[in-house]
Amino acid sequence: MNVLSKTEELRRAAIDHLWMHNSGWIEMAELGEPVIMVEGDGIRVKDSEGRTWIDPNGGYVSVNVGYGRTEIAEAAREQMRKLSFQPPGAATEPLIRVSEKIAEIAPGSMERVYPVNGGSESTETAIKIARAYHRRNGEPGRYKVISRRYSYHGATGGVLGMAGSVSADRSDYEPFYPGMIYAPQPSPYRCESGATNASDCAVYSAQQVEELIIAHNPETIAAFIGEPISSNAGNAVPGDEYWPMIRDICDRYGVLLVSDEVICGYGRTGEWFGIQNWDIVPDVMGSAKGIVSSYMPFAAAVAKKEIADAFEGENNEFRMANSFGGHPVAAAAALKNLEIIEEEGLVENSKRMGEYFRSQLRELQEDYTFIGDVRGIGLMNTVEMVSDHETKADFDPSLGVQDRLGGKFYDRGMILRPVGQFLNISPPLCVTREDIDEIVNILDDSFRELVEEVPQLKG
Ligand SMILES: Cc1ncc(COP(=O)(O)O)c(C=O)c1O
Repeated sequence: MNVLSKTEELRRAAIDHLWMHNSGWIEMAELGEPVIMVEGDGIRVKDSEGRTWIDPNGGYVSVNVGYGRTEIAEAAREQMRKLSFQPPGAATEPLIRVSEKIAEIAPGSMERVYPVNGGSESTETAIKIARAYHRRNGEPGRYKVISRRYSYHGATGGVLGMAGSVSADRSDYEPFYPGMIYAPQPSPYRCESGATNASDCAVYSAQQVEELIIAHNPETIAAFIGEPISSNAGNAVPGDEYWPMIRDICDRYGVLLVSDEVICGYGRTGEWFGIQNWDIVPDVMGSAKGIVSSYMPFAAAVAKKEIADAFEGENNEFRMANSFGGHPVAAAAALKNLEIIEEEGLVENSKRMGEYFRSQLRELQEDYTFIGDVRGIGLMNTVEMVSDHETKADFDPSLGVQDRLGGKFYDRGMILRPVGQFLNISPPLCVTREDIDEIVNILDDSFRELVEEVPQLKG
């Protein structure tokens, strides 16, 4: 069987049997999809027909050390040969070592690590810890959770009800758990208060959290959850007042602060954890993705010592278990991944390359009037596209801007699709200047062609 016919045969089997995430099989068949990926190296992957793709979001912003790291494969292989599995009731050396490592890099006294399998489980677990903590602390009435509009904290039942990403219609799964409260997003470019600078927006958005706590009765609020930099609101970096104010408000009302570090964690923002950009220590964190650079499913909720210690003592344990949480093979992969991030200085590289990347994107902004904003921190970047700088409105759907652009990136071998008005570009932390130049050139060529096809974009 030649390569092409094997690809065709696989494609047919996928169309018949595979229920892919967020895709319809009839549409995929019409488009000649799915693309079947077979290899990866750095920030590139190769498909079964031999085409190389640049992946400027490194596997949904998760492959922090890049593809093809044989050291991680070796660490996992060695562990699998020695002892393939033990359930979470037994400890293994890689699980202990990776917990110790996370405790070492996490801020303040965040030193208790609860291993799970993915980002949704990590945030779900963080919220469970918060609610269960209040019961042990003599405040069983605290169950409500404040999140921010345009957020995403995962796909499982509890966290799905927390706010709502612009790209996800969740109406099939309503009603959500009771006690979900939504606060504004501190997005300087689109502040709900109409503020036009980051500081005013930060202060307004934090004050709104306090008002919501008061309005809903502080004695019923368990936690506030937010990404330090909201990837799902297009990498909106809050003004410097925001997180210190949120920490202070949470402390004053006895509300636990949960930082969702699923995307921001493990070097992505130029710090080990996103919240460290403001020197804040949260109470609990959800974390995944970069923790293992997605070589295996591994994730963790991390709690402050003072919170975790409430679960000590007879009949007081945190009542939750899942079979694969802390899987030893995944833990070995995660440990090796964190060692690579540290040894290769990838946290610093994220900061340095992020600055270079944004400087290049800002040069593009000068050439294309439909670019409303370029923003980000470390290697979390967004180009926001607007039809009008005053209203910041989306394009007339009949122009097909997003589809055209997605098609142009596809034709040039770049795995990137606009999410609404956002082009989110968050490459692996091992990205080089040459890689960034290549991404920026593809953007430039695609934008130029787009403007020729849609003259209304000339503005
Ligand atoms: C901020 C944030 N939290 C949680 C999740 C859920 O993670 P997972 O898809 O691993 O369940 C995601 C997924 O992209 C995310 O972006």
